[in-house]
Amino acid sequence: MSNYHIKHLEEYYQVYRKSVRDPENFWEEVAEEHFLWRKKWDKVLSWDFTKPEVKWYEGAQLNITENCIDRHLTTRGEKTAIIFEPNNPDEEAEHITYRQLHERVCEFANVLKDQGVKKGDRVCIYLPMIPELAISLLACARIGAIHSVVFAGFSSTALSTRINDSDCKMVITSDGSYRGGKEIDLKGIVDEALHDCPGVKTVLVAKRINSDIAMKEGRDKWLQPLLDEAYRDCVPEIMDAEDPLFILYTSGSTGKPKGMLHTTAGYMVYTAYTFKNVFQYREKDVYWCTADIGWITGHSYIVYGPLANGATTVLFEGVPSYPDFGRFWEIIEKHKVNQFYTAPTAIRALAKESLDFVEKHDLSSIKVLGTVGEPINEEAWHWYNVNVGKKKSPIVDTWWQTETGGIMISPIPYATPTIPTYATLPLPGVQPALMDENGNEIKGNQVDGRLCIKFPWPAMARTIWGNHQRYKDTYFSAYENKYFTGDGALRDEVGYYRITGRVDDVIIVSGHNLGTAPIEDAINEHPAVAESAIVGFPHDIKGSALYGYVILKVTGESRDQNNLRKEINQIITEQIGPIAKLDKIQFTSGLPKTRSGKIMRRILRKIACNEMENLGDTSTLLNPEVVQEIIENKL
Ligand code: WT7
Repeated sequence: MSNYHIKHLEEYYQVYRKSVRDPENFWEEVAEEHFLWRKKWDKVLSWDFTKPEVKWYEGAQLNITENCIDRHLTTRGEKTAIIFEPNNPDEEAEHITYRQLHERVCEFANVLKDQGVKKGDRVCIYLPMIPELAISLLACARIGAIHSVVFAGFSSTALSTRINDSDCKMVITSDGSYRGGKEIDLKGIVDEALHDCPGVKTVLVAKRINSDIAMKEGRDKWLQPLLDEAYRDCVPEIMDAEDPLFILYTSGSTGKPKGMLHTTAGYMVYTAYTFKNVFQYREKDVYWCTADIGWITGHSYIVYGPLANGATTVLFEGVPSYPDFGRFWEIIEKHKVNQFYTAPTAIRALAKESLDFVEKHDLSSIKVLGTVGEPINEEAWHWYNVNVGKKKSPIVDTWWQTETGGIMISPIPYATPTIPTYATLPLPGVQPALMDENGNEIKGNQVDGRLCIKFPWPAMARTIWGNHQRYKDTYFSAYENKYFTGDGALRDEVGYYRITGRVDDVIIVSGHNLGTAPIEDAINEHPAVAESAIVGFPHDIKGSALYGYVILKVTGESRDQNNLRKEINQIITEQIGPIAKLDKIQFTSGLPKTRSGKIMRRILRKIACNEMENLGDTSTLLNPEVVQEIIENKL
């Protein structure tokens, strides 16, 4: 029996039990069987959640790009590694073979070296979904530089904060990007961000939209001429198992974004293993994940996991609505996609459109459907199952996080019977625990609580860049000796997990993880605003949308409230990005506060969700009278 590729439920339970009985032996076998090691490990795992410190495959040496590219060259050199599907359907798709990928990554890696990037240096990548994005990640990994990808929908302020937090010396960007019918001036955003980033010495610019942009002498360089000159082979840097691979920022409930640090060997083994099992990938399959590489989903399941398995992975530049709402289905038909992985928010948006868009296309290639990023509601699940999967393709509802590096709880298609809204069972090596309010583990089934993980898994983030204390406080302090996810979950009578949503002040909007604090900070920068609080409320397409309660310095009457609303959203767009805009803004004279001055978001959330009946006891508030006012003026 191979641990690596599970094919039926019985086998899942066997493998799972084995992985829990002896995790080290389990992960050793997985690592032995499938990867290229320059040196094997001395010790599979050492860990201490109180520090917290976790090390996998200590003593091993490797380069992840050798595993994702070089080792496939003998058997899969002419196989397509990446299918690039451009924004505009009239532009031809590009098929990049493993051999070509090798060449392009090596050239790019040599350019980075020529520009002075060394092992351990941080490189910020701010690119649209074009091949250069995947290639730049791999080029960094080739030479041991730490990539920090910033989603190209983030604003210049968000970009500069992230560049400075991890002290990047280089930014890789493009002249601009296409997004549906729009062109976006990415380089302009980078220029603005770099006013505040003295550490950045070099900006490499890929050409995508051929716009006329300003190039700053001595700092900005066009990428292509450098690639043209670069040597086509690049000896990979030999990395230690625990050497950093990348930083990726995620929002917290308070404070600035957290730069989650992922390391090399464990991340590779885990993303490869989970990719193979969760998508049941077979050699000739074409796999497509619609996420942006700017998020962890794209890192793990567009780039590293698929390539580590020698898979063919689709990289789509555009949006689901361009040129019309049939684009996803058209691409599935065109490239004969076998595994399709997307977000519930995209499914809900497409389900609102005419069924003709789906039915026009031949989707018979589909074998597995996936969702990620937020709970999927039952209606969307059924729509996906019936209209896309034609009731014959299992849906894998995959629960995981930027912090976990890879999928944690998910059905294994054709093995685990699926139920709508359930992420079902933990993958091998994953040991979930549900905790009660008093910090005790709730054993047994038909229970709910806060979701923790009680044993390390190879792809877990090792720290928050530059702030290990915050890493400890955020994830390892709520419950002793456990990693706390921030999510609530229930476990049903057969042990299936259903994720019920965040239990902290993180709100998931269209699958994007948004912290309340940075948005409130942005709102409070408006000169007319005294204080604000935001909460989530249910939204048909986005899952959750943002509701803002805003106290003005002078009562709003003298100002046009609609203008103020626009200005507030404008500031949010500038500081964070359009994804964080508020759907509703209610002006109020006060916010409900505890006697210690803490805003009671729980009450505000209930009001925003129209759950006025059970607000709980408001009498202990400092200002109970304000609750009535807020209810009366609810939008
Ligand atoms: C949060 C993590 C994992 C990559 C994309 C998001 C929510 C994620 C599910 C799911 C219910 C889910 C959780 C989690 N979430 N997947 N299948 N069912 N909720 O990564 O931005 O780090 O967000 O997304 O609340 O904690 P992220």
